[in-house]
Amino acid sequence: MKAVVLYEHGQMDKLIYEENFADPVCGPGDVIVGVKATSLNYHDLFTRNGMPGITLKLPIICGLDVAGEIIEAGAEVKGWSIGDAVLIDPRNRVEGGLVGETIHGGLAEYCRAPQHQLVKIPDGVSFEQAASLPVAYGTAHRMMVTRGQVDADDKVLVLGASGGVGTGAVLIAKIFGAEVVACGSTEAKLDALTKIGADHVINYKETDFVKEIWNLYDKPHRREYAGGVTVVVNFTGGETWVQSMRCLRRGGRLLTCGATESYNPPTDLRYVWSFEFDIRGSNSWEREDLTALLDYLSEGRMEVPIAGPFPLSRAAEALRLIEDREVIGKVIVTP
Ligand SMILES: NC(=O)c1ccc[n+]([C@@H]2O[C@H](COP(=O)([O-])OP(=O)(O)OC[C@H]3O[C@@H](n4cnc5c(N)ncnc54)[C@H](OP(=O)(O)O)[C@@H]3O)[C@@H](O)[C@H]2O)c1
Repeated sequence: MKAVVLYEHGQMDKLIYEENFADPVCGPGDVIVGVKATSLNYHDLFTRNGMPGITLKLPIICGLDVAGEIIEAGAEVKGWSIGDAVLIDPRNRVEGGLVGETIHGGLAEYCRAPQHQLVKIPDGVSFEQAASLPVAYGTAHRMMVTRGQVDADDKVLVLGASGGVGTGAVLIAKIFGAEVVACGSTEAKLDALTKIGADHVINYKETDFVKEIWNLYDKPHRREYAGGVTVVVNFTGGETWVQSMRCLRRGGRLLTCGATESYNPPTDLRYVWSFEFDIRGSNSWEREDLTALLDYLSEGRMEVPIAGPFPLSRAAEALRLIEDREVIGKVIVTP
């Protein structure tokens, strides 16, 4: 089959497009999915580059989020048929492992998956939209809903709002009725964020986002439950960590699911106790996050902004959009 294969860690040239990679073999409890769409994530950069302290078995086919049609089903498969439109949940919760990292993923014509990882794509939802969901939007959903408990009373500041998790956080906060302030680094990103429903946008490269929040909502008051925002979404870390705390109202929630810039930022405990913050971590997603998101798509309550689609032969180049921070929403490859 045609596939994009990583034989060794490194830069863009290590993602090798080939036309004769071995087809996956269907086990009795497995299906083979003809891949219609896969989406790329910041995680693919970690996999491509190699992560300190983590050894991956190579070669591997990247691409964590896979949507397509069942083209073959093993003898023990029940409830699924050839031709069904499915999303593969990237987490193998039975044997362990992650599609696109330890299990061959979506940058290929075909992908094998055990039946317990399959999620039905509702009628009317495109493969591109479905493939946008699991890693970025699934994580955003758990962070905003289960962990963050965002609702219509919230004023939510989202940093890194233009990317995968970021656009997910904005769209989900809007579905739950919150007021959203979205930060981005270019005017094009801010335009896109306004189009998807952000109530306010801030170019944090040009202005101090802390002061912009104080202009919008008044400076947080330590002794009162007033001023500032009630929720900050920060998966950037680095210099933005303490700045985020300066935007939060007393009793607010600082939500994080990653550290794109750095994972050991300076912190300032005075803000944590004075303003009685909750710092809430969130990791990954559960199956109900994916089904809820598919429902939002099928009910027309959400549309994921998409970059591409790119053909398989240009997947390495598509990942460059994420690397160079040029992406808005999700990068889609259609094998
Ligand atoms: N825990 C989990 O289960 C989980 C799951 C998914 C993702 N994550 C993490 O969440 C983060 C975002 O993932 P993603 O796939 O949404 O990435 P993405 O699509 O590349 O979006 C990240 C956004 O953050 C902003 N940013 C700020 N500082 C950056 C920096 N130093 N390098 C790159 N971008 C920077 C960029 O927007 P501007 O240029 O506008 O600032 C960019 O659009 C990553 O750290 C990822 O590892 C964690």
